[in-house]
Amino acid sequence: MKILNGKETAETIKKELRELVKQRKSEGRKIPHLAAILVGNDGGSITYVNSKVKACEEIGFESTLIRYDDSVSEEVLLNKVKALNEDKSIDGFIVQLPLPEHIDEMKVTLTIDPKKDVDGFHPINVGNMMLNIPGFVPATPAGIVELLRRYDIETSGKNCVVVGRSNIVGTPLSLLLGKNTNPGNCTVTLVHSRSENIKDICKNADILVAAVGIPGFITADMVKEGAVVVDVGTTRVDDATRERGWRLAGDVKFDEVAPKCSYISPVPGGVGPMTIASLMINTLKAMELKGK
Ligand code: GUN
Repeated sequence: MKILNGKETAETIKKELRELVKQRKSEGRKIPHLAAILVGNDGGSITYVNSKVKACEEIGFESTLIRYDDSVSEEVLLNKVKALNEDKSIDGFIVQLPLPEHIDEMKVTLTIDPKKDVDGFHPINVGNMMLNIPGFVPATPAGIVELLRRYDIETSGKNCVVVGRSNIVGTPLSLLLGKNTNPGNCTVTLVHSRSENIKDICKNADILVAAVGIPGFITADMVKEGAVVVDVGTTRVDDATRERGWRLAGDVKFDEVAPKCSYISPVPGGVGPMTIASLMINTLKAMELKGK
């Protein structure tokens, strides 16, 4: 069994980006600039956004963090999005989700200029991904594909089961892995809460991706001997042994599943860091698409 070390792989990608930034700086060219809007005080969202800003600092990208209170109006938020669309110094930006209930997330997403939508959530980018038109692919699925690529995992012709059909991970990943690309060319099955015989379907997977957000959902009896298992879960669970009182739990029962796998990604240190690295790649791409 080998670990799909997302932390290490993301560090390699960030090192490559750092070199690129250094090179650009020495040529007097523009440096990518990412902005992030964070609404409210959700612990998970704060951690994610801070990691994104920290990654920018590590590789030499410029970054701007914009924070609002939970009570911010939809109008104020939409006006900020419009201002960022117009701001020539910003190459790409994200609005961290989820947003408070009184704000329509889709309305916010639709207001983002697709050329600056480095999350790849705007319908234009979702459509571009579907049709193989250059654009932005959401960071988590892109990070998973990059992890499989960097570990040289054979995907062509393999049975891939994706558990979970979210707009951010499961659905786009199932589309990407079925494409005529490398990694890709998988026979993809998308499993969700209404699926029957989930265990039997998972058991048939050469590549099993768990993106349901239920800690320990994937157990050893659901996994084929020699399978590649990718764990996208990042649920905060209480843990009195930790000073902060919680830990991140994956969707896979790692201890019992790992011995059966050829490769498995851990939580933390698997998909999470790859998501951040992919966002950085998308930000660089946003700047390049502008011809800078
Ligand atoms: N919330 C959970 N994942 C994401 C993500 O990739 N981007 C944004 N903007 N919000 C999220």
